Amino acid sequence: MVAESYTVAFEGIDARLVEVQCALSPGMPHFSLVGLPDKAVSEAKERVRAALNALSIALPSRRITINLSPADLPKEGSHFDLPIALALLAAIDILPKDAVSGLVSLGELALDGTLVPVTGALPAAFAAASAERTLVCPETSGAEAAWVGSIPVVAPSSLHAIIQHLTGAKPIEVSQPGVVREENANAPDLSEVKGQERAKRALEIAAAGRHHLLMVGAPGSGKSMLAARMSSILPDLTPEEALETSTIHSLAGLLKAGGISRKRPFRTPHHTASMAAIVGGGKGAKPGEISLAHNGVLFMDEFPEYSRSVLETLRQPIETGDVVVARANAHVRYPCKFMLVAAANPCKCGYLADASRACARVPGCGDDYLGRISGPLMDRFDLRVEVPPVSFQDLELSTARETSEDVAGRVEAARSIQQERYSYLDGVSVNADAGGHVLEDVAQPDPDGRDLLRQAAERVGLSARGYHRVIRVARTVADLAGRETVGRADVAEAISFRIAGVATN
Ligand SMILES: Nc1ncnc2c1ncn2[C@@H]1O[C@H](COP(=O)(O)OP(=O)(O)OP(=O)(O)O)[C@@H](O)[C@H]1O
Ligand SMILES: [Mg+2]
Repeated sequence: MVAESYTVAFEGIDARLVEVQCALSPGMPHFSLVGLPDKAVSEAKERVRAALNALSIALPSRRITINLSPADLPKEGSHFDLPIALALLAAIDILPKDAVSGLVSLGELALDGTLVPVTGALPAAFAAASAERTLVCPETSGAEAAWVGSIPVVAPSSLHAIIQHLTGAKPIEVSQPGVVREENANAPDLSEVKGQERAKRALEIAAAGRHHLLMVGAPGSGKSMLAARMSSILPDLTPEEALETSTIHSLAGLLKAGGISRKRPFRTPHHTASMAAIVGGGKGAKPGEISLAHNGVLFMDEFPEYSRSVLETLRQPIETGDVVVARANAHVRYPCKFMLVAAANPCKCGYLADASRACARVPGCGDDYLGRISGPLMDRFDLRVEVPPVSFQDLELSTARETSEDVAGRVEAARSIQQERYSYLDGVSVNADAGGHVLEDVAQPDPDGRDLLRQAAERVGLSARGYHRVIRVARTVADLAGRETVGRADVAEAISFRIAGVATN
């Protein structure tokens, strides 16, 4: 009278296998659920009871005990309905026990027995694959889960459909991976931005080495416009990166129709967004914007307008590439290797450099405004660039400008050089990921370059982090030019972007 089935509990982007055991024992009719369920899991009893009732299946008049094992692992979410229903149906011999025990399932039940979509089908499929079991998930999540490839994915639309499948009455075809989302053919192109050659160069270097970029300039000079074109010059995600990023998007319920995109994510949270929205957390410890931007771009427009606490929390994830989110009883870790692109006005009125338009509080308000970005946070921007107002001549100019495709070609070439260089290192694929000791091997400037670096370090007082970041950027500049050794010119350009009028060191 004991039957079991499997499901998963999420811990960050990992899904841990959970055994759902169902025992029927003599005694007063009672339905109990144990094994550290949260409120949503506890309510599964009522939904399962109603769904079975809708199929005219009566619960036996005995004690029904459901145990979610391991019992000390917190269980959250509404996806436990389906595995509980399957284990129960096996215990009362409506479904074959051995068929049900070979499944990992997830899905929420509506009261009429239809399956409601849940988040996390992709990481659940990874867990099912490592346990070599078939995955059963709601119909709409099938295309997403099928990307794992090594196990069959069955995606019924209702409890009735999965019963018919498991009893052989009406088998369901296994799901196929969803088509990759159509890319937007009208994506904005870099050639639409007139002038701003230096900012475009900064964009190119940032894209090539995944460096963090801060743009400061007057209103209407094209900062948001430039940032929006970052996606168009970045190479596509590798298949592994695409699965990694999609796993996080799956947990946030953002994968549309199971389509996995090879485009790098470009996230643009508003500056009023809460801490939980940016770094993750809140109900169910969901991933935040920094994790949704994993392997892509996090664009923070009007950077100084974000709350101070949000800005300061970014410091640690920028350094480590992952974030720990607290939730009841546990902590979960989400990866967040993103490229931070930030834009800001130089002061509150925005016209610090334009005496004819500036407000009465200039120049003091400039320090006040950009001063909201703390020193340590500013130190993390590898590239800082001033974006001056566009001149009328530039706007009128209609000469051919470089398109995103031209720039993307150079970025791609520089990225493949880096990929090859770091192929022996785990988790390092671009210069920004290279640690200090690796840099000494691969990015040591030639004697001229070293001289310049020493002088600059003495004059502007580079921090140790600043020193390494300059070398990383110089390495990227050399990679863009296809140079084996980092030279004086590469170091000079890297330094010029670090000390650009925005702030010190
Ligand atoms: N360099 C440029 N080339 C062509 N158009 C431009 C350029 N700069 C600005 N524009 C025009 O001005 C509009 C506003 O630019 P954008 O929003 O990028 O400015 P911004 O620097 O982000 O300003 P703010 O500081 O107010 O946010 C653009 O949509 C575009 O029409
Ligand atoms: Mg803007």
